[in-house]
Amino acid sequence: MAVLPIVTYNDPILRKYTEPVTEFDDALRELIRDMFETMYNSEGVGLAAPQVGRAERLFVMDGRPMLEEGEEEFPPTAFINPSIVLKSGGRVPLDEGCLSFPGIRETVFRHDIVKVQYINQDFEEQETEAGGWISRIIQHEMDHLNGILFIDYLSAFRKVMLKKNLEEIDTGDIDVDYPVVPRG
Ligand code: CO
Repeated sequence: MAVLPIVTYNDPILRKYTEPVTEFDDALRELIRDMFETMYNSEGVGLAAPQVGRAERLFVMDGRPMLEEGEEEFPPTAFINPSIVLKSGGRVPLDEGCLSFPGIRETVFRHDIVKVQYINQDFEEQETEAGGWISRIIQHEMDHLNGILFIDYLSAFRKVMLKKNLEEIDTGDIDVDYPVVPRG
């Protein structure tokens, strides 16, 4: 297993529409293990393949640190070739961060509930309906597979406020306690 360096803003791979996973083999198992290790090493709750330099439709999630009282625990899961088949509920605000944007947290509105179909780390087809943080993480990570980033949802005002922070990330002028791909 290996901790992989994380791609940060504004690497062009983060803007790619990713390709479906086609080979269900040991190399994919190893990539998934490495992505989990990378996510845990950086204390993230979700990590998408483009963030480790792979333009593939795959993300990993372990939302247990965000578990709230009374919520059912959702185990660590890999989502291979996921598709969101339903979004429902109102749009709710939550403060999101992203391992590709060290130091930034911003309020983003998203649908409360999603239903997602995917293949898991045991290469089994699954369908999950989720609310709360699990829904939130799924929507954030799904966006990564389509080249969409959480800053895209911010108001023009917030983007102006963050301009300097974003420039610092873009130029690699950041303090981060996990390995990142050098910028520039
Ligand atoms: Co992210």
